[in-house]
Amino acid sequence: MYSYKINGGKPLKGDINISGSKNAVLGIIAAAMLIDGPCVLENVPDISDVRIMLNLCESLGAEIEYKDEHTVRIDPTKIKTHEAVSADVSRIRASYYLLGALLARSGKATLRLPGGCDFGQRPIDLHLKAFRAMGARSVGKTTNGIITLKADPLRGAKVFFDIVSVGATINVMLAATKAEGTTIITNAAKEPHIVDVANFLNAMGARIKGAGTDTIRIYGVPVLPGNFTYSIIPDQIEAGTYMIAAAVTDGDVTLHNLIPTHMEPLSAKMREMGYTIIEGDDTIRVFKEEDVEIEGTNFKTSPYPGFPTDLQPQAVVLLCKSTGISKMHENVWENRFQYVPELQRMGANINCIERVALVTGIKHFDPATVTATDLRAGAAMVCAALATEGTSYITGASKIDRGYEHIITKLRGVGADIERVEGIVNMNDYDT
Ligand code: EPZ
Repeated sequence: MYSYKINGGKPLKGDINISGSKNAVLGIIAAAMLIDGPCVLENVPDISDVRIMLNLCESLGAEIEYKDEHTVRIDPTKIKTHEAVSADVSRIRASYYLLGALLARSGKATLRLPGGCDFGQRPIDLHLKAFRAMGARSVGKTTNGIITLKADPLRGAKVFFDIVSVGATINVMLAATKAEGTTIITNAAKEPHIVDVANFLNAMGARIKGAGTDTIRIYGVPVLPGNFTYSIIPDQIEAGTYMIAAAVTDGDVTLHNLIPTHMEPLSAKMREMGYTIIEGDDTIRVFKEEDVEIEGTNFKTSPYPGFPTDLQPQAVVLLCKSTGISKMHENVWENRFQYVPELQRMGANINCIERVALVTGIKHFDPATVTATDLRAGAAMVCAALATEGTSYITGASKIDRGYEHIITKLRGVGADIERVEGIVNMNDYDT
C-alpha cells in the first residue's frame, strides 16, 4: 500500500498532455472481444484499470500485444470461453461490458458481478432487462455473484431506459451489434465515450447510428471484419482534474491533446467563478487574472452534456477555495460525498444534506493525512493538497492510479512537489 506525499502551496505552471480516456478505452477493449479480426488501439492510457481489463481479455483467450506504451494490438480470434469469472472481474466496474460483448460473440456469457468505486448501490438491472428484451435468459441461479446468460438467438429489440446509464447504453450497443435485426435504444446516454465506442465499432464493420443523441439505432451485422487501427479520445475527466488543480493553486497551465467542447460543462462554470479559460483547437489554458476574486457558484451533476459526476469531488475543492456559500447537488450517484470527512480534516467547511453539499469558502486548507476513498475523491485530495502550504499525505493512492496516467510525472512537470511513499498509515482509513 502506498501513499502520495505532497508539499503544496506552489502554483502549477506549464504544460500537461492529456492521456486517452479511461471510460472510453474500457468499453472499446470489451468491444474488441466481439470482432472477427485483430485491431490496434492507439492512445491507450497506461493505468491500472486498463491493465486489469486486458488481463481479463487475455484470460478469455484473446491475444494482447503492446506495440509501445500506448499502442496495443488485440486479436480476439482465439477466444475459447464465454466465462469471465476470475477475481479481476470484481476489481473493476467495466468488466460488466464483457456480458454484452460475449453474448454478441457466442450467444453465451458467464460473469462474476463487477466491482468498482463504492458510492452507493450500483445495480445492473437496466443491462439485464435490456438483454432479456433481446432474447437472453438467465441459466441457473445467480450463485456466488456469478451470472450466466444465454440467447438463442440474440435479437434486436426496442430498449427504453428509465434512467440514463452510461454502462447500460454501451453494453446494449455491444450486444446489439451482432444481434439479428435492429435495436433502438431510447433515452441513451450521450457521453463522449459512448460516441467513441460506437465509432470504434463502426470502424470495425458495425452499423450504429445516432450515438451522442438520446436515440441510438443499431442494425445487427453477422460479421465485423476488424483489421483497423483506432485512436482513443482524450480523457475529459483527467483534463478537468488538471484544470481544477491549476485553478486552486493559482497557477497557469495549458492542457494539450484534449477536445475543448467536452470540457464546456466545467469551463463555463469556471469562467462564471472568475477564472480565465482560453481554448485552442486541442488545448485549454487556465489561469486567474490578478485582482480577480473567485466567487462561489452552484453545481448540479447530470448525464452529458451536464456537469460530470466524475468531476464532482474535484469541483467541491474548487468551491472551497472561492468566496461565499456554494451548493453542489449530486444528481447521479446516491452516495458520492464519502470523501467530505477527508476534506473536512483539511479544514474544509462543508455540510451535506442528502445529495447536496453546502460549501462555505475558506482562505486555505490545512495540511493533513487523508484517504483516497475512491478514484475521483483521491484526485480531489491531490488538488486540495497541492493548494495547501505544508506536507499532506494521501493514503490509498493506488485508487488514483486506476484512472490517472503517470500523475506524479505530469504534476512534477508543472512544478508540483509530489512523490510516492510507502508505509504511511492513516488511522482513519476505512476502505483501502
Ligand atoms: C460510468 O459508470 C462510469 N464508469 C463512472 O465513472 C461514472 O460515474 C458513471 O458512468 C456516470 O457518468 C465507467 O465508465 C467504467 P451509470 P456506470 O450506469 O456506467 C443507475 C469514474 O470515476 N443505474 O451511468 O456504472 C446508477 O445507480 C467512474 O471514472 C441503475 O439504476 O454508471 C446511477 O445512479 C466511477 N441501474 C445511474 O444509473 C443500472 O442498471 C448512472 O449510472 C445501471 C445504472
